[in-house]
Amino acid sequence: MTMAGRRPLVAGNWKMNGLRSSIGVVETVRKDLPKDLLDRVDVLICPPSTLISSCVAAVYGSPIAIGGQNLHAKPSGAFTGSISAEMLADLGAKYVIVGHSERRAYHHETDDGVHAKALGARRAGLCGIICVGETKEEREEGRTLDIVRAQLAIGVPKGATGADTVIAYEPVWAIGTGLTPTPADIAEVHASLREMLGQLIGPEAAKVRILYGGSVKPGNARDLMAVDNVDGALVGGASLVAEDFIGIANAYAR
Ligand code: PGA
Repeated sequence: MTMAGRRPLVAGNWKMNGLRSSIGVVETVRKDLPKDLLDRVDVLICPPSTLISSCVAAVYGSPIAIGGQNLHAKPSGAFTGSISAEMLADLGAKYVIVGHSERRAYHHETDDGVHAKALGARRAGLCGIICVGETKEEREEGRTLDIVRAQLAIGVPKGATGADTVIAYEPVWAIGTGLTPTPADIAEVHASLREMLGQLIGPEAAKVRILYGGSVKPGNARDLMAVDNVDGALVGGASLVAEDFIGIANAYAR
């Protein structure tokens, strides 16, 4: 548990990486993660949709969860190429990432779209991981808190709870770059997000986990976890290597 009594969540986001041969990574994570770690930390892997079924089979009987990286807000219909929350849940997914900055940048996702998708996730019984984060320019202009608070205010549905919602703070400039904000900067953003959540959903805000994401590695995970209001990590590149992902999860098990 974190100091505030929230159970840490370490989530891997494979992005558009992984073929059937990559299931071995999930098998290794399952085999090599210390058993007692899973009593204290929630561990989640979000592979591409093509691998969800096989990953669910690979973690069968273990508390490791599998999630999606995106969803369509509607349950079904004429939306060629899209996948609904119900379809993800049907495969055994428990979580879904919503509004990742790559979706916002390359697929023009808006905060209203994120809101609709978060509602879709809840409708199907999935926990939505709503991503927020500023660009390099926005940080340099001193607008970080305004940006992430607005993303949160629009994205998070009314009545969100700690069970159906996780927030991930991912500065766009820290994703895949090896750069991370200072612990003080992360603490400032997470405190502000927690305060904004309080305005949006009241006392339930204390139960919602706020992850940090952006260049989390085994070498910096311990320092990041020690920051106030950091309840886990959303891990991209390092989640593709079983040993690195396990190293990060270990840092959150303290
Ligand atoms: P990264 O990606 O760990 O490779 O920086 C994080 C993310 O995009 O979720």
